[in-house]
Amino acid sequence: MINGIATAPSGPRNDNKFFMKKKLKLGVLVSGNGSNLEAILKACQKPSFPARVVVVISNNPEAFALQRARKYGIPTVVVAKNNEAEILAALKKSKVDLVCLAGFMKMLSAGFIKKYRHRIINIHPSLLPSFPGLHAQRQALEHGVKITGATVHFVDAGCDTGPIILQGAVPVLENDTLEKLKRRILKVEHKIYIEGLKVIGRRVIKTGRKK
Ligand code: GRF
Repeated sequence: MINGIATAPSGPRNDNKFFMKKKLKLGVLVSGNGSNLEAILKACQKPSFPARVVVVISNNPEAFALQRARKYGIPTVVVAKNNEAEILAALKKSKVDLVCLAGFMKMLSAGFIKKYRHRIINIHPSLLPSFPGLHAQRQALEHGVKITGATVHFVDAGCDTGPIILQGAVPVLENDTLEKLKRRILKVEHKIYIEGLKVIGRRVIKTGRKK
């Protein structure tokens, strides 16, 4: 058991029916555009994908992500901006196994994280631990790094400090603008979020952390 998730030995056994039988029930928390949500929803359409979205929860009634969810026939819940009790109730009602933050613009409290210990993941637009927090792409551009990227990680009580699941690198080009860089990072986010869900869903996760 690593991070509360059962692990399996590597090798062909990971693909057998035992590991694929029960799909993880995902609750996706959003606040805005929802392109990561849509990448997840698309992936879930594949029968072999080890997860399915059971509820999309937004703390912003205007979030475009809500329209994306409805297009896929997924139940949506809109909660008041800082109301964690409403989020917890919605997650419980849908019997969510894993909470996926996808552009959710609110730090969750330590109490919330404790309730879903090792069962909350996030996508962040930098190679953590570099550039945590807001405006990660701008931070990278302003710092002058030559390579940045995206990270899928477990959520702990810190700001983007939880154990890393997967990362994808994105080169910063000579004539990059913030918008161009954001777009290229977003493409990688969509890929690694899906890959991250696959390793969690197939219970074959290694975060690289000893503690
Ligand atoms: C992404 O860049 C994600 O890394 C960050 O917020 C943005 C959300 O984009 N946490 P979208 O709503 O998934 O399009």
